[in-house]
Amino acid sequence: MNTAKFITLEGMDGAGKTTHLDWIKSQLLLSGIDLVATREPGGTPLGEALRQLLLITEESRHPDTEALLMFAARREHIAKVISPALLAGRWVLCDRFTDATYAYQAGGSSLQWSRIVQLENWVQGDLQPDLTFYFDVPPEVGRARTQQVREPDRFEREQAEFFARVRAAYLRRAQEFPSRIQVIDATRSISEIQIQLASILSNI
Ligand SMILES: Nc1ncnc2c1ncn2[C@@H]1O[C@H](COP(=O)(O)OP(=O)(O)OP(=O)(O)O)[C@@H](O)[C@H]1O
Ligand SMILES: [Mg+2]
Repeated sequence: MNTAKFITLEGMDGAGKTTHLDWIKSQLLLSGIDLVATREPGGTPLGEALRQLLLITEESRHPDTEALLMFAARREHIAKVISPALLAGRWVLCDRFTDATYAYQAGGSSLQWSRIVQLENWVQGDLQPDLTFYFDVPPEVGRARTQQVREPDRFEREQAEFFARVRAAYLRRAQEFPSRIQVIDATRSISEIQIQLASILSNI
């Protein structure tokens, strides 16, 4: 554990990203590791403002526009937070990163996959996470953890198809990058998952 690591946490709403980020952070701090915990979209004042635009505004927009805004926020985040931390020897824990853009914008919203490849190359250069935890749950499990369980209405059924595509795109990324992306069966209990996370972290 000599060089600073860049670790990202991925998965759908309610999969457990924030829960496990907090736990990983506490474990690393106990081991004396200096770190920065951050999130996307966001992580800088401009990024947080873009997050508001992206997540709050109802107005529909072209998928390219959404991807460009995501990567604008990401550029700022890398320049101001991620790269300086890593250079200073501090680990970075990030709640969502580029895999989420593939999952939601390409998988969910049908943006061309190749568009994201182009933006990723431009904005990230050689920067990739050293390790990504993808917390895999069926969409209904994530939804049940964040909302009350009841029969889905028409809008939620359409959403179910969207989230099935998001999950499939996450799994495609995991297949493409099997050494970086660890697929975690997040339907299990939090304590079972923590045992697996500890084992993976002890080997990086
Ligand atoms: N493995 C688990 N088993 C049971 N409950 C869980 C599990 N993981 C997380 N939870 C609970 O589910 C809820 C959502 O978890 P959390 O906020 O960590 O998800 P998230 O992936 O960060 O979601 P979001 O994308 O909405 O921020 C929390 O109440 C959390 O305690
Ligand atoms: Mg969260």
